[in-house]
Amino acid sequence: METLNGLKRTHYCGDLRESNIDEEVVLMGWVQKKRNLGGLVFVDLRDRSGLCQIIFDTDVDATAFSKAEKLGSEFVIALKGKVSERSSKNPNMPTGDIEIVASELRILNKSETPPIYIKDDDNVSEELRLKYRYLDLRKPSMQKTLMLRSRVANIVRNYLSSNNFYEIETPFLIKPTPEGARDYLVPSRVNEGKFYALPQSPQLFKQLLMVSGMDRYFQIVKCFRDEDLRADRQPEFTQIDCEMSFVEQQDVMNIMEKMVQTIFKETLNVEVPLPLPVMTYAEAMQRYGSDKPDTRFGFELTDISDLVKTCGFGVFANATVDGMSVRGINVKGQSEAISKKQLSKIESHAKTYKAKGLAWMRIGENREVTSPIAKFFSEEELTSILDRMDAQAGDLLLFVADKNTVVFDSLGQVRLEVARRLDMLDNSVYNMLWVTEFPVFEEDEENGRMVAKHHPFTSPLDEDIERLEGDDKASLRAKAYDIVINGYEVGGGSVRIFNADVQQKMFKALGMSEEEANEKFGFLLDAFKYGTPPHAGIAFGLDRLVMILAGTTNIKDVIAFPKNQSAVCPMTNAPAVAEDAQLNELCIKVDIADKE
Ligand code: AMO
Ligand code: AMP
Repeated sequence: METLNGLKRTHYCGDLRESNIDEEVVLMGWVQKKRNLGGLVFVDLRDRSGLCQIIFDTDVDATAFSKAEKLGSEFVIALKGKVSERSSKNPNMPTGDIEIVASELRILNKSETPPIYIKDDDNVSEELRLKYRYLDLRKPSMQKTLMLRSRVANIVRNYLSSNNFYEIETPFLIKPTPEGARDYLVPSRVNEGKFYALPQSPQLFKQLLMVSGMDRYFQIVKCFRDEDLRADRQPEFTQIDCEMSFVEQQDVMNIMEKMVQTIFKETLNVEVPLPLPVMTYAEAMQRYGSDKPDTRFGFELTDISDLVKTCGFGVFANATVDGMSVRGINVKGQSEAISKKQLSKIESHAKTYKAKGLAWMRIGENREVTSPIAKFFSEEELTSILDRMDAQAGDLLLFVADKNTVVFDSLGQVRLEVARRLDMLDNSVYNMLWVTEFPVFEEDEENGRMVAKHHPFTSPLDEDIERLEGDDKASLRAKAYDIVINGYEVGGGSVRIFNADVQQKMFKALGMSEEEANEKFGFLLDAFKYGTPPHAGIAFGLDRLVMILAGTTNIKDVIAFPKNQSAVCPMTNAPAVAEDAQLNELCIKVDIADKE
């Protein structure tokens, strides 16, 4: 193998154009493709900027030519040559007007036949792509996304720095922060039997930086959450984390939506009109069944509970009591586009979100109703339902009757599933909004206890704060705000409690005793005694933001080395078994069989 031995690259492959014709260049990269036409070897050379065609001509340089004959896919080479006009131009390639006539070739490294093709539409399994991630990342689309991600981080740093934010690092080995997921624990060797938690977010530290008088903080920071993984969730992900002092909700929203506007302008050249629309949590749930509504299409929810109280369909009539409801969506004009088979798949989808079924009505000419449940309704009942749902010929109505939480969740998901099937999710449209006035508390599904919907440091609305000690906790609203883009929760934040008494009451409302609160968060309560400014903040999911900018629905596409659905890295095989000596040092015994 040869070495660089002083050779310097002059250009990236993908940057050469007609204007470079007659220049002597030095290029370095990987062999994408080689064709031997006898006397002439054509090579497509690839680096991160793109491809460029090289010609090795036995009449130009016989040594280079005979070396070129030996090249294989993914060999690493350096070459000298002259940029020439191409005789058969390729309009599909940015460098298609030119080619390089090589005068010298150095083979810097060979390659075995790679287990995956280095091209975008290779159709191999994700597991294989992750196993050979370093090859997968050679693909142009992957490189483009990583570059986009880097640009976004730069834009963010510039924007926040010029708005007087300082980037300050916070520790990774900490006491647990309660963001609601499970912690990743790290055993301490020097403190036997004790554990650090990896931060689910820098929440408490950024608040303490406000107590310290830093005034405006940000950090592009890794966060760790041991939770069930989904298409938009990774166990370690990156936040653009911000906190500001002496501000209120609207101030945070103003400055942060301008940041989003700047990102979209500078990366996609998309204009985002400001201010963004604002919708309360209650309205978002009523209209879309979701606190992160995708507003790119309609099919909004309609409550028909009051119309079916006495109808003959027990499933509906029984769901009209407090806490339950019957709601529907009108899939306007699309009845014919959704077949019986598709309808049954949509029903299965609803059932994965705990719906017991999905009732449907197809509306024909003269508003004739075709539906297995039509027989249970009187003429007047049907008319009132159709009127309420604005039903016309060609519409398809879908209903769920259940507990409100199930109705919202399943019908909200049905709404999305129908739009996906009808190909209505236009990725070139960016619908953004703020969702505000979240409930302070929500019921924990597992044990029915009240837990913080955002986190326990979020301030209730001023008018709701005195009810913190009352019985009606479910109705308390928070000074919390999420930014939603095309149905993704891209960021979330809140105005914080900055008074030790109120914070203590909040812990109490969450069922924490004073001792427990002091044990867990004594340092915060202490800090609040020494002059804490009013403060508020937000964190964006950088991965999710880049996903949207890159037009992908898979968070792994925007992370260089992600984990698979089982939180495993198929390339390194992390996590792995630890050695006995290591465990011994940490006073840890592993007994999988003994797990409860
Ligand atoms: P929150 O928990 O809402 O708020 O997180 C902020 C944003 O981080 C992103 N996100 C994730 N992205 C990928 N994988 C995950 N597992 C994941 N979890 C969250 C989302 C989300 O909107 N400390 C508060 C912020 C604050 O109050 O200032 C917090 O972490 O886009
Ligand atoms: P059944 O009488 O159980 O066969 O249900 C008749 C129709 O009502 C079917 O299309 C079911 O999917 C639907 N259905 C059943 N339970 C519910 C429910 N809780 N909400 C909405 N539709 C339902």
